[in-house]
Amino acid sequence: MSDSSGPPTVRTVADLRAAVATWRSAGETIALVPTMGALHEGHLSLVRAAHANASKVVATLFVNPTQFGENEDLSTYPRDEDRDRELFAQEKVDLLFAPAIDQMYGENDSTRIDVGELGTCLDGEYRPGFFVGVATVVAKLLLQSLPDVALFGEKDFQQLQVIRRMVSDLHIPVEIMGVPTVREADGLALSSRNAYLTPEEREAAPALYSVLNKIADAARSGGDLPAAIDDGMDELRAAGFSSVDYLTVRNADTFAVIDASTDLQRFPGRVLGAAHLGKARLIDNVKL
Ligand code: PAJ
Repeated sequence: MSDSSGPPTVRTVADLRAAVATWRSAGETIALVPTMGALHEGHLSLVRAAHANASKVVATLFVNPTQFGENEDLSTYPRDEDRDRELFAQEKVDLLFAPAIDQMYGENDSTRIDVGELGTCLDGEYRPGFFVGVATVVAKLLLQSLPDVALFGEKDFQQLQVIRRMVSDLHIPVEIMGVPTVREADGLALSSRNAYLTPEEREAAPALYSVLNKIADAARSGGDLPAAIDDGMDELRAAGFSSVDYLTVRNADTFAVIDASTDLQRFPGRVLGAAHLGKARLIDNVKL
């Protein structure tokens, strides 16, 4: 079952189920950490949180084709399984599930999971079908492994909430845990797609986090939100971002728009942004 220099690795659903069943009968608890590889400290923080919440950690490595749009970066998405395996081994991942596409999507596969509005607003508007692909593959991974807990990063906050909704609506018996965003020293959220940035763009990239924080400050102090958002748009363009998909303050559970009339004491708020810088589309968010 073990490839050289990495954690024990399985590539079929049957082998995954067998390994988990053995642990279950020995009374172990299971945490699942889904990834698309190109690992960085953000992914590894999920693995560490997983160890703190279960006795066995299963990581998955699968670049999921159904969550990429036609003009997106499926073919060029950074892939380096050997490096990823080594990093997972260093973090003492107990099992790696690295399936080929035909394990995840059989010949006549046609079922898709659509969570509705939560998955069509914000990123769902700019990446049609993205959250259907995410919800579908995460449902498959959860049902294949049946973990006690599965961990996802707050970096992809809408994804986290879509997965929570899907798990709740489908009564999948798993606890979904969100893990805080890991950042570079200058505030840029770690992302596999940061590799697309030129050195110059990398210098400009932390502007997104800084703009989100300014909007959050305005929201917290009851300031003029539309003005803060307009200023943020200007600041991103001045920093070299080519276009801003959205900068917005939302209810963290429903993604309903929050404005000056919303009582922030009563609603969990989140400031979210997505903007293009060179070849990369960066997303980030901060809690209110
Ligand atoms: P991927 O982009 O590889 O991310 C895997 C997990 O790492 C996600 O839960 C993501 O939110 C988390 N993550 C990424 N950057 C992070 C950071 N800077 N700090 C903390 N966590 C971070 O997200 C996906 O893959 C896929 O959509 C997936 C859920 C695996 C389904 O295909």
